[in-house]
Amino acid sequence: MKMINNPQEEPYFHRFVSLGYTPLNYSEKHYIFAKGNKVIKIARSVYNTLQTDESYYIEKAAHDLLIEHGMPVVNIGKIYQKGELIKDFTVLEEDRVEGEIFYRKNCDVALLSQVVCFMQRAAQITAPSFGFFEKDRRAQFSSWRSFLKSVIDRANPQRKGILYKGLDMVPRLSEASFVPSDCNMANFIFRGGRLKCVIDIERPLWGDKNFIYGMFKARNESLLHCVTEKFDDKLVDYYAQIYECMFYGKCFAERYVDSANLSSE
Ligand SMILES: Nc1ncnc2c1ncn2[C@@H]1O[C@H](COP(=O)(O)OP(=O)(O)O)[C@@H](O)[C@H]1O
Ligand SMILES: [Mg+2]
Repeated sequence: MKMINNPQEEPYFHRFVSLGYTPLNYSEKHYIFAKGNKVIKIARSVYNTLQTDESYYIEKAAHDLLIEHGMPVVNIGKIYQKGELIKDFTVLEEDRVEGEIFYRKNCDVALLSQVVCFMQRAAQITAPSFGFFEKDRRAQFSSWRSFLKSVIDRANPQRKGILYKGLDMVPRLSEASFVPSDCNMANFIFRGGRLKCVIDIERPLWGDKNFIYGMFKARNESLLHCVTEKFDDKLVDYYAQIYECMFYGKCFAERYVDSANLSSE
């Protein structure tokens, strides 16, 4: 997607500069500013919605959970409510991570494999409910299938029939795994070829750990090629379709459309 990246045009730019922040980076939805060993993430004005505000609280809850489980994710120290740091915008503050980012989807296998391992480790964290991870760490559904049904219900009529059929092969799970929903390489920071820190775990799910492979299939097949454990191809294909429905809005899912993180596409 083409967009203009000019943080100077944002209403917060001059205030941040006067507070000592400098622009560091940007994504489709956000600008990132740095000051000392901290960075702040703030929405572009066009994305300054309640849903974006909510996503910061979810992101912090997810990072806190992963840190408790010893996972290498960045510490999100604080979320400034509207008016606290800047008028009308919620701001997320986290530690600044030094290192290298490999933006290419098909970068070195040694790097991709570490991303796969990170995802698999995260999926060892379990919980009793299914669906989108909320800021209280829970999700709304009592089964994985019922959550998927709710996603399919939002799909457009042509897709619905096929997607409903596929539900038959979806396993009945007794517990949910933590499933990160973003495998964009821009979220993985390496030093000396080792994965040091993951940022931006923004919209995770509680669900089937195989959903991770569906995400790889939908977003970066190079990651799927680095998976060494056996998986069910049909199920993974199916999850790839559901993933697209959820996050790309390809099946028209209004709630989920702008929660996709498409920054490197
Ligand atoms: N804590 C951080 N340390 C270093 N760089 C960061 C940090 N947070 C974000 N960045 C940079 O800014 C980019 C966008 O930030 P990110 O949190 O991934 O935003 P988005 O949620 O919009 O994808 C990252 O890919 C990275 O290059
Ligand atoms: Mg990101």
